Amino acid sequence: MEPPVQKTNPGPNVYFEGLPRGRMAAIPRLSTRILNRAGPARTPEDGSSEFMKALFGKAGLDISGYRNAALARREAACLRGLGARNAAEGLEILRRFPERIPSAIDSVLLGVTGFFRDGPIFSYLKSGLIPLLRERRGERLRVWSAACSTGQELYSVAMMLEEAGLLDRCELVGTDFRPEALALAKAGVFHGAHFGKTKQAEFPENPGPGPVWKMPATLAGRVEWRCRDLLTEMEAGPWDVILWRNMGIYLVPAAAHALWLRLAAELRPGGFLITGKAEQAPADCGLHRLAPSVYQKPGPLSQSIYAA
Ligand SMILES: C[S@@+](CC[C@H](N)C(=O)[O-])C[C@H]1O[C@@H](n2cnc3c(N)ncnc32)[C@H](O)[C@@H]1O
Repeated sequence: MEPPVQKTNPGPNVYFEGLPRGRMAAIPRLSTRILNRAGPARTPEDGSSEFMKALFGKAGLDISGYRNAALARREAACLRGLGARNAAEGLEILRRFPERIPSAIDSVLLGVTGFFRDGPIFSYLKSGLIPLLRERRGERLRVWSAACSTGQELYSVAMMLEEAGLLDRCELVGTDFRPEALALAKAGVFHGAHFGKTKQAEFPENPGPGPVWKMPATLAGRVEWRCRDLLTEMEAGPWDVILWRNMGIYLVPAAAHALWLRLAAELRPGGFLITGKAEQAPADCGLHRLAPSVYQKPGPLSQSIYAA
């Protein structure tokens, strides 16, 4: 059932319904664990379990791209979500009720995300990257959040672009493999839980634990959400900014490396690739590190940076 939405008209000073702009300063400290809590850790002795192999096969995802340990940690939670007592029961449920495959995948591919997640990275985007984008006068700016989960990351960038007066020139696309996450992103309605534990204290105007914040149409209407398997499908570039954050950490090195190369190839010369805190570009992907988690593809548009 769709959660009820608090209806108010966002005025010019309001990003979310019920959330005045001045409060945005508090958001970088908040992050959200969207999906199920981690189940008990279990290390497979010889690769992925038969259950996981069957689940990924049925979902059309290549399991060989993912780290076994990361998948094994999610197996118990996935089986619980299916209501199965063991892997054999889980397999049977998947066989008899294929419509449950998306939610089973949902419980395995962790969608942890948050608004302005990793504050220092977003601070750099605001003070370092947005001014560089502004210099590209008159050009259309293309921004892609690859593996966007429920969309808070891309909405955070959209808010910054709006504040900088650049939003009208932007094309914003978010992609993920999980349709349920994308549906939430598209609805643009975020519960208190999506903002983290400190929400009640930080946002006293929030009337309670129910859904509160709805992205205003000026932002939500500008973003396109697409269901894509990033291991096999690229959004055609050239992109000015690609956010690829906190997905590579779940991949085996070869799959992560291949994605670095393919994402770098989709960047416009002078374009930026933004990663998670724990992710580092391989030397052979040809990107120049500007700041922690911020990379640029060399090209005519990057000269001013190198000269600086
Ligand atoms: C931890 S979340 C990261 C969300 C956001 N980028 C952030 O850092 O806040 C990882 C996301 O990767 C997505 N993902 C995993 N494998 C994928 C694939 N093959 N194709 C597309 N998305 C995938 C998951 O569905 C999940 O939403």
